[in-house]
Amino acid sequence: MIKAVTGTRDILPGDIPKWNFLESVVISNLSKFNYKEIRTPIFEETGLFARGIGESTDIVSKEMYTFLDRSGESLTLRPEMTAGVVRAFIEHSLDKKQNLNKLFYIAPMFRQERPQAGRFRQFHQFGAEAIGSNDPSLDAEMIIIAYDILVKLGLKNLQVKINSLGIPASREEYKIKLKSYMLPHFDKLSGESKKRFETNILRIFDSKEEQDQKLLIDAPLLIDHLDEESFAHFDKVKQALTLAGVPYLIDPKLVRGLDYYTNTTFEVVSQSVGSQSALCGGGRYDLLIKELGGANIPGVGFAAGIERILLACENEKSLMIGDEKIDLYIVTIEKGLENFAYKTATEFRRKNLITDLDYLSRSVKAQMREANRFNAAFVLFIGGDEFAKGELVLKNMRNGEQLIFGKDELNKICQIIKGV
Ligand code: HAM
Repeated sequence: MIKAVTGTRDILPGDIPKWNFLESVVISNLSKFNYKEIRTPIFEETGLFARGIGESTDIVSKEMYTFLDRSGESLTLRPEMTAGVVRAFIEHSLDKKQNLNKLFYIAPMFRQERPQAGRFRQFHQFGAEAIGSNDPSLDAEMIIIAYDILVKLGLKNLQVKINSLGIPASREEYKIKLKSYMLPHFDKLSGESKKRFETNILRIFDSKEEQDQKLLIDAPLLIDHLDEESFAHFDKVKQALTLAGVPYLIDPKLVRGLDYYTNTTFEVVSQSVGSQSALCGGGRYDLLIKELGGANIPGVGFAAGIERILLACENEKSLMIGDEKIDLYIVTIEKGLENFAYKTATEFRRKNLITDLDYLSRSVKAQMREANRFNAAFVLFIGGDEFAKGELVLKNMRNGEQLIFGKDELNKICQIIKGV
């Protein structure tokens, strides 16, 4: 038997109401902040991600689904959206239409990571990108949007972590300081951190290895080496968060795994999901648009993992979604009336009622069981003595009340069901 590929999941009909609810909260929240949806292709030229996210990052060096197509072009299933959104922004000169573009997305992403709870190879993100302004209040806006959505989903064990990575010049100076601090301890670093020492020393802060964490306790911190402008920018982000009533924690070790960040970075973590605790992450990327061939235009954004958020909701039992209902189930009592039942069902569907009927020639009892399973508000009986007299019986399944209508009174039946 062929099974779903490791790290991918089917989202079955029983799970869909939660997904739909989450997506409706996401869309309504982002719309209130005046973000517009963007959809970009699932695969892009590999170079976009290599240049955008950074060759030395784990995503690009280890996790991408990269393949040659039949013409020999190297393509990659998107591991994240920011690079694709920026590519589309440049390609369609969106900055010519308006100075600030506030965009959002809900879409699948692909990373060949080791699967575990909350970590998949195909997963879904919702996220937002604001391209065209370096106003720190937009950095805060991203955090506020993400935080408000998670709170609307009923989540409680949340922590907002923020940091600033400053501008590349001060970061490069700081990296030299960090390197000279680390050099005497090089032999004690884990294998992975030894590699990171050479490729991107900041990422040593991401290490979960105890031996690395011990060495980092007294390491110099980037936040203490920010240039004045970055420092002032960070201050304004904090002020805006306080104005919006979003509690936050400054985490000087929050470096994030993508190379495009400048200044603000942030994550919202949950204590309800085990080791994969980051529900969302983001930050400012003022150099990315230029790096990808566009003008010198700043941007900021975030993305959140839908599977992880739903896992947190499940663990906190925060999403109470009622059972799905249908408006009407048509029970066919006698053989030979199937065509009438089918025609009637079609008419009710065209009158906007969620309607179903039997397709398996089942007994009346089995049809009633099906009506209950579907949580039908009403059942319409077709057949029996009433039908012979030209009548239809409508049963209200909530209170058991039965009403009689003429066969041609479908409008009247419809009004009763709709409660008008
Ligand atoms: P990221 O931190 O790589 O950032 O991913 C954002 C979120 O996606 C994570 O916090 C996590 O919830 C979810 N996620 C990541 N990998 C997986 C996985 N393998 N399985 C399940 N969920 C996962 C970005 O993707 C950036 N593009 C965010 C951004 C937008 N920065 C600026 N704009």
